[in-house]
Amino acid sequence: MSFGGPAAGSPFGGPSASATSAAAGLPFAGVPTELAEKAKEILDQEPDHPTPDIPFSQADYDRRPLTLRRFLEPHRFGLLGAIVLVVLETLALQAGPLLTQVGIDRAIVPRDVNMLWWVGLAYLASIVVNTLSSYARIAYTGRLGEKLMYELRVRVFSHFQRQSLDFFTDEKTGRLMTRMTSDIDALSVLFQDGLVSLAVQGLTLVVITVVMLFLNTTLALITLAVVMPGMLLLTVWFRGASERGYNRVRDRIADVLADLSESLAGMRVITSSNRRRHNVINHANVVGEHRDANVYAASVGAFYGPANEAIGVIGQAVLLLIGGRMVLDGTLTVGELFAFLLYLTAFFAPIQQLVQLYNAYQQGQAAMRKLRDLLLTEPSVVESPGALELPPVEGNIELRNVRFGYDPDEPVLGRDGRGLDLSIAAGETVAVVGPTGAGKSTVAKLVTRFYDPDDGVVSIDGHDLRDVTLHSLRRQLGVVPQEPFLFNGSIGDNVAFGRPDATAEEIEDACRTVGLGELIDRLPDGVDSIVHERGSSLSSGERQLLALARAFLARPRVLVLDEATSNLDLRSETIIERALDVVLEGRTAIVIAHRLATAMRADRIAVVDNGVLTELGTHDELVELGGHYADMFATWSSHA
Ligand SMILES: Nc1ncnc2c1ncn2[C@@H]1O[C@H](COP(=O)(O)OP(=O)(O)O)[C@@H](O)[C@H]1O
Ligand SMILES: [Mg+2]
Repeated sequence: MSFGGPAAGSPFGGPSASATSAAAGLPFAGVPTELAEKAKEILDQEPDHPTPDIPFSQADYDRRPLTLRRFLEPHRFGLLGAIVLVVLETLALQAGPLLTQVGIDRAIVPRDVNMLWWVGLAYLASIVVNTLSSYARIAYTGRLGEKLMYELRVRVFSHFQRQSLDFFTDEKTGRLMTRMTSDIDALSVLFQDGLVSLAVQGLTLVVITVVMLFLNTTLALITLAVVMPGMLLLTVWFRGASERGYNRVRDRIADVLADLSESLAGMRVITSSNRRRHNVINHANVVGEHRDANVYAASVGAFYGPANEAIGVIGQAVLLLIGGRMVLDGTLTVGELFAFLLYLTAFFAPIQQLVQLYNAYQQGQAAMRKLRDLLLTEPSVVESPGALELPPVEGNIELRNVRFGYDPDEPVLGRDGRGLDLSIAAGETVAVVGPTGAGKSTVAKLVTRFYDPDDGVVSIDGHDLRDVTLHSLRRQLGVVPQEPFLFNGSIGDNVAFGRPDATAEEIEDACRTVGLGELIDRLPDGVDSIVHERGSSLSSGERQLLALARAFLARPRVLVLDEATSNLDLRSETIIERALDVVLEGRTAIVIAHRLATAMRADRIAVVDNGVLTELGTHDELVELGGHYADMFATWSSHA
């Protein structure tokens, strides 16, 4: 990161500097010199975020299923260090009751003050060791957890970017959001603290059992025989029940987010259709299901905790009874009985903790499963292993015997058994017309390789689209979709989306060419005016113009316009028609036309009906032919 030229040059700017600043949307030219040093200092203190190296080529990225082990593998040495600390921490903590036993039996009973001092000092030392190793362990695993989360977030997001279009039509946005929010959060809880605490608590149980066996084998076995069966049964039940509970919670959270994101996106329709009440009721239901799932999960834990405690208390009573008799018989010292009672209490504390950790673990595992499935989703449009860089193309497009259906059983193109054939010469503009749902947009999606045909070939300059890299193909294609999407940012940012290196003049020029001149003159900040999320601050006509400007600026060899002018009034459309003549000059273009006036200007017109190419020719030829197009033209002329 740096402040670049303007700051180093004339800080308060001459005319040239203010021009740069206007382009960047800054109120003044760069950072004043007296502040520059301070600014640099602040920037130097900012942590570095190296650009992650993300492979997008199909062959390159890591396809191995995401498992806890594989995920932690690269950090195994760090984790080993953490485990050493855990052992130290646990041993130091569990030395307490043992020291108490020594204190009672060797110092208090024989009235040895010297020994008492030593025991006290040892106790203090064990606490210091415990605290220090605990601190180091938590600090380390916290940092490691954050690092793992960062890696996972980037990995999942990159995977979204890799997916083909069908993925986003099949998956609800809210559900995908859940993966990135609550699922990753659940894992974060697990990694920050969960896994290592699990180790601490597990180790505590083992250490206590061993020490008890060492102190007095008989009593230890009796104690374990009393508490173990109940605890095991309870734990087996809890395992199943809590897993069911947490899977349910997970699914319900996804529903809540899905409903929320849909409602927010569709607010305009909801308001105008008077569905607000219905919408609230619906959301209340979804949230209610989420609550029920949580209540179930909580009630499972609520039973487990106290039931365990009860077993612990029973154990204490039995221990006091049997251990007390052993003290009277002289087979056990008072100190040992004391240590046993302390250890039994300490035995149940980690179990309570384990319950909570087990919940976190369950949630983490459920999240891991969801993320694993997500990361295993293969994009449907893939590069073939030896995909070539597509050289700069002339723009000969050919669809040969193409058949396609979004659902393989339901053909959309090539319904009559024949595939669809269409060849477009370099530099030619072909208009595609036909009724709604005929498959026009589908043709456009095949040409831009948003989907692959089920049968037949789509090629450009003789290269099957499946044999070239997606990057080199898309670089030469421009698409203006039916519903343009605008990103948060200025009008200029949006126009330059496909060509971030465009100059301010080029951006403004593109805007004026498509007829956005009036808009940017009217807006106080011109090209730098901010458009809001989903572009709702612009009219749909203006959004279409902006999308056109974006495509114009990118200057692709092949341009596909999918009803890109359908929301424009006649006057804007006339401006656009003229602009199109300029822009389409020398480029191959597929113009899916909503209006005949647009279609008529094309070199040739293709009529698509019910997934079949029924007519193809120039305007005059088709009128002559007397088919569907001639009918449409006759209707249109009679209105005009
Ligand atoms: N993503 C999709 N999934 C399933 N069916 C689709 C999808 N997109 C379009 N279709 C169906 O394919 C047919 C052709 O759609 P389309 O090519 O968009 O028609 P249009 O000629 O109006 O542009 C329609 O019946 C439509 O319902
Ligand atoms: Mg369409």
